[in-house]
Amino acid sequence: MTQPHCDLSGASLSITGLSTGYGGKAIVSGLDLAPIEPGAVVSLLGPNAAGKTTLLRSLAGLQPATGSVRLGDQELLSLSLAGHARIVTYMPQSLPQRVALTVLEGVIGAIRASPVGDGNLSDGDIVDRALEVIERVGIGHLAMSGLNHLSGGQRQLASLAQALVREPRVLLLDEPISALDLHYQLRVMKLVRQLAKERGMIVLMVLHDLAIAARWSDRVVLLAGGQVVADGTPEQAITAQVLADVYRVQARVEPGPSGLNIAIEDVL
Ligand SMILES: Nc1ncnc2c1ncn2[C@@H]1O[C@H](COP(=O)(O)OP(=O)(O)OP(=O)(O)O)[C@@H](O)[C@H]1O
Ligand SMILES: [Mg+2]
Repeated sequence: MTQPHCDLSGASLSITGLSTGYGGKAIVSGLDLAPIEPGAVVSLLGPNAAGKTTLLRSLAGLQPATGSVRLGDQELLSLSLAGHARIVTYMPQSLPQRVALTVLEGVIGAIRASPVGDGNLSDGDIVDRALEVIERVGIGHLAMSGLNHLSGGQRQLASLAQALVREPRVLLLDEPISALDLHYQLRVMKLVRQLAKERGMIVLMVLHDLAIAARWSDRVVLLAGGQVVADGTPEQAITAQVLADVYRVQARVEPGPSGLNIAIEDVL
C-alpha cells in the first residue's frame, strides 16, 4: 500500500467510474463527478436507498470500490484504511451506542488518532483544542458528560465535534443534522461552511432537507438508483421537474431572499 502524500491542500477531489455494492450486487456503478474544489460544500441528496451512504462509505475506504477517487494526484482507493483515515473523515449516519467516555474524552481520542495529534502538541494543547471545538459546536456545557447519557441530538453534536477536530482534507458527513433542533441545524451548517472555507476542506454531506441544502451548499448532487440525476448549483439542481422525477412530489421552487423557496404541494 502506498502512503498518502503529505501536502494535499489545494487539491480537488475527482471521482471517475466509481462502482460499489454488496456481495456482487451493484448499488453505484460507473459514477462520475466533476472535480470538487477545495473549500466547497457539496450536498448529496436523494431518496431512501439511493446509495448515498454506500457512496460515502466507499469514499471513506470502508467498503470495496473500483474506479478512481483522486485528491490531486493521490489515488485514494489504493490507500490502506489507515492511509485513507489520514485524509478523509467520515461521520456515519447511525451513531455508536454504549461508549463509556465523556464528550471531552471522545474528542481528545479523535485528536490523538488523527494527523493533528501526530505533532508536538502537549497534553494541555490537546485539551484546549478539544474544548475549543466542543464550544464551537455548542455543547461546552456537556464536555464532562458521558456520551451514554446524551440525547440523540447531543450525541450527534459530540460526534460532529470528533469529526471536525481531525481537520481532514475531505469531510464526509452522513445526515449530520438529522437529529438536531432548528438552532443546532443552522449552527452546524454555518460552522461546517465556515471551516470548509477557512481550511480549504472539501465537505460532502448527505442531507434530506432541500431548503437547508440549497441555502448552505455551493453545489448539490442528486442521486437516485445509484446514478447522478442532477449536479450543479442549488438553483440548477433543485427544480420542480427534478423533484417530480426523483421524489415523486409536486413542488414549487422559486428563488428567495436566502436560497430557494421550496413548497412541496402534493405526492404524485
Ligand atoms: N450492508 C448492506 N448489505 C446489503 N445491502 C445493503 C447494505 N447496506 C445498504 N444496502 C442496500 O444498498 C442500497 C443503498 O443503501 P444506502 O444505505 O446507501 O442508501 P441511502 O441512499 O443512504 O438511503 P437513506 O436515505 O435511507 O439513508 C439499498 O437498497 C440497501 O438495501
Ligand atoms: Mg443513508
